[in-house]
Amino acid sequence: MKFDAPATTNPIDRLKIVGQPLDRIEGRFKTTGTALYAYEHNDAAPNPAYGYVVGASIAKGRIAAMDLAAAERAPGVLAIVTAQNAGRLEKGKLNTARLLGGPEIEHYHQAIAVVVAETFEQARSAARLVRVEYVAEQGAFDLAEARDSAARPSAEGFGGSPDTAIGDFAGTYAAAPVKLDATYTTPDHAHAMMEPHASIAAWDGDRLTLWTSNQMLAWGVADVARMLRIRRENVRLISHHVGGGFGAKLFVRADALLAALAARTTGRPVKVALHRPFVFNNTTHRPATIQRIRIGAKPDGTITAIGHESWSGDLPGGGPETAVNQTRLLYAGAHRMTATRLAVLDLPEGNAMRAPGEAPGLMALEIAMDEMAEKLGLDPIEFRILNDTQVDPEEPQRPFSQRQLATCLRTGAERFGWSRRNPLPGRTRHGRWLRGMGVAAALRNNLLTKSGARVRLDGRGMVTVETDMTDIGTGSYTIIAQTAAEMMGVPMENVIVHLGDSAFPVSAGSGGQWGANNATAGVYAACMKLREEVARRLGFNSEDAVFADGEVRAGQRAAPLGGAAAQGEIVAEDAIAYGDLDKTHQQSTFGAHFVEVGVDVATGEIRLRRMLAVCAAGRILNPKSARSQVIGAMTMGAGAALMEELVVDKRHGFFVNHDLAGYEVPVHADIPHQDVVFLDETDPLSSPMKAKGVGELGICGVGAAVANAVYNATGVRIRDYPLTLDKHL
Ligand code: MOS
Repeated sequence: MKFDAPATTNPIDRLKIVGQPLDRIEGRFKTTGTALYAYEHNDAAPNPAYGYVVGASIAKGRIAAMDLAAAERAPGVLAIVTAQNAGRLEKGKLNTARLLGGPEIEHYHQAIAVVVAETFEQARSAARLVRVEYVAEQGAFDLAEARDSAARPSAEGFGGSPDTAIGDFAGTYAAAPVKLDATYTTPDHAHAMMEPHASIAAWDGDRLTLWTSNQMLAWGVADVARMLRIRRENVRLISHHVGGGFGAKLFVRADALLAALAARTTGRPVKVALHRPFVFNNTTHRPATIQRIRIGAKPDGTITAIGHESWSGDLPGGGPETAVNQTRLLYAGAHRMTATRLAVLDLPEGNAMRAPGEAPGLMALEIAMDEMAEKLGLDPIEFRILNDTQVDPEEPQRPFSQRQLATCLRTGAERFGWSRRNPLPGRTRHGRWLRGMGVAAALRNNLLTKSGARVRLDGRGMVTVETDMTDIGTGSYTIIAQTAAEMMGVPMENVIVHLGDSAFPVSAGSGGQWGANNATAGVYAACMKLREEVARRLGFNSEDAVFADGEVRAGQRAAPLGGAAAQGEIVAEDAIAYGDLDKTHQQSTFGAHFVEVGVDVATGEIRLRRMLAVCAAGRILNPKSARSQVIGAMTMGAGAALMEELVVDKRHGFFVNHDLAGYEVPVHADIPHQDVVFLDETDPLSSPMKAKGVGELGICGVGAAVANAVYNATGVRIRDYPLTLDKHL
């Protein structure tokens, strides 16, 4: 089904089931431990062997010699796979570095071998006996040092980001009566998902099945086939439940490739999980940025010039962190520029992490807006609203499909008690606590991408949905069930949802907050087809037929839905595909984050007191799961503001704090009362669902809202994240 005109009234608009805050249909399986994650498919892949991955202990150079003899003799060892004996492999198209390194080493903890044994413990023990001699080379590990050598990226990162220049930025900025020129830094971040990367591989002749923890199955199938130089038809990925991805599992990683190689060598199913301290340097991370922002305005607060430059680093052939993306869209201003520069760094591969681009970009831009508001003597909310725009500032003929940023800000101000904020920083004190409030705007784009599904109807009126869509903890199972139930007019109990199998129709997958809208729209398309077939078989005109309460009705006549399938199951498959609606209109989601902090006047300790997010993100398909997404994202934003930082060893080129003890993420005690408000919005240009995504919008702007609250509390402006207490004492 091609979607190329604004959505009209359709069965989803009844909102009997869609739009309801229903519990997750798979929640009980997760809380009772019966939901199987990748590493737990013991029945499907019996008698597995265990692989333990050995990582390079240098960041750059070559393996001079590898001595496997002692490891091979160790108890239980079945095989050791290295680049020497693995046969010819291609580099994955979606990976920057090879997933099995050697003799060339591209980054620290690049996998160089997998030791396969009867038990996990035997594999781990034998892995310690692998002896490797290296010839190390000096690499580049320091972004600040490499900044001057950074160039225009040739490979574009997630979302792309060519340089932009509109009007005369330099001249207008130079002449602006009020201006800001400030530089901000964000550190490298780890996804720190609960479930590490893990896979079980099993071969049946030349056909490979991988139970793996992955967000994008079709991408994974293509890359596994490419790496192993086999046909895509012979690769199946299964990912029923994913214990967090955040972008780290958009692409297959070493666990999948090495499990496949080890299983081929041993003739047994092989399980490979990356152990926690290995994940941080072996897989991907959000790259650190240096961002320079210049804003020029008239004394009345009108922005005349806005410029944003961002520097980040990656391995040769990698891409930039596209931190300037939101600055192209968020505020008006006739003269503007953005530039993205990429340096070569020999650190582990940088790649997408929740709201890649916008998340770190807004951490800088929204502090800059706070600084500008202060210079102008304007309230930061009024300053933002003054420079709001209903059209793409770079292409004024392109309107936003929906843009309720001002309503988000005003609603939030009202709900949060913004009027009680003292605009003078450092003046509000309760005992030993300095108190402050901060605000930031949020923007994250809404991407439209093809998404397919299959629906089956049986004689009992049960509807089964099959799509390769994944549920990465987001609630995909539930919103897909809600969509099918609404479309077919059956209760939730009559819908069965099967996800996460590449044998099913290719969906949008989970990434870039595009999953919810596109995947449900694909289910909508398949259900439309099923409805037509049902109506035809029951002798209804499909235009007049109403599907409700397990029946199909028109005029005086009603027939049970299952009756259409009395002679056998009916199967319908379709995909939603899009025309140009996202080119004629800019599709984005908007939000406003409000934060109140207390800062200990003696120690500088920062405690979050209250957080509020107001989101305008199209129709909310399930307010409960959407709220959970936003709360999780706000928590991740609080982590980025206050504690998260991969510490780079600049001599040896690796992340030092590579476990969850050293890489701090927020715990419950760090997170205060959180509130989420969704504006009542539908976007007829986004899809027949009229929905958008929220999972990434929720993190966008949070860091700056915290930083602005800390400034309001203390009067100390910190431009380098995380805001640790040493920076404001
Ligand atoms: Mo998201 S970083 O595209 O999983």
